[in-house]
Amino acid sequence: MRRGVTSSLHGVDARPIGMFDSGFGGLTVARAVIDLLPAEDLVYVGDTGRYPYGPRPLDEVRGFALEIARHLLDRHDVKLLVVACNTASAAALEELRETLPVPVLGVIEPGARAVVAATRRGRVGVIGTLGTIGSGAYQRAIGAAGVEVDLTCAACPGFVEFVERGETDSEQVHVLAERLLAPVIDADVDALLLGCTHYPFLARTIGDVMGPDVVLVDSADATAFALRTLLGEAGLARGDGEGVHRFESSGDVDAFRTLGRRLLGPELDHVLGIDWD
Ligand code: DGL
Repeated sequence: MRRGVTSSLHGVDARPIGMFDSGFGGLTVARAVIDLLPAEDLVYVGDTGRYPYGPRPLDEVRGFALEIARHLLDRHDVKLLVVACNTASAAALEELRETLPVPVLGVIEPGARAVVAATRRGRVGVIGTLGTIGSGAYQRAIGAAGVEVDLTCAACPGFVEFVERGETDSEQVHVLAERLLAPVIDADVDALLLGCTHYPFLARTIGDVMGPDVVLVDSADATAFALRTLLGEAGLARGDGEGVHRFESSGDVDAFRTLGRRLLGPELDHVLGIDWD
């Protein structure tokens, strides 16, 4: 692919947006971006060959993130990178921002701002993978939001595996949710951030367990709005047209197409395989 040729004289940039996640979870962000910015081309990488990222050491996840970012830049000439994975954002956002020649957007800052805006009583919960919660990234982002809130964080190991199996509202996942959400229920939170891109697929189960008075916030919409602002400020927006959406997976491409299409919708039509050597 030739670099830079797609930028026109009229201040629009037709290069695609690059996005990645460890698997299917980032499709929640992809959905929000496709809906909000229908003119933008998008290349999404689901690293299902190496998922899950959540239990891995952050250094290892950082290495994966840098490798995928390089792939998106070298093969697809992306104009901007969205890290549509909380674990990878927690592990690698800083380094990606320091080393890549394009703007990088993660999901943690937009999510933190959204949950702080949503709470009425200042009692906020964040749930995520072991890696994300253990990294302290949300604790820092919410601390930096400039609003005094009472924060309770809980890791939810096991949720991602249910989503990756396409099992989003079974009795088993309900039982697990009751156990894992106990700390945020006990803390009497009134706004709960789904700090893992997979969790919006479990929103019905999580909502049932938390009860109707707790607002569930997911970072997908907040990230899409932050992306629109960033594209505008950086002069990278595409303008008019109908975007083309490409999907790549490092795991089983047929499985990615079947489950991904169910989760994202008809835009996920063809899936290309990637091999990391
Ligand atoms: N999608 C990832 C996140 O948002 C979690 C999935 C995984 O553990 O790989 O943290």
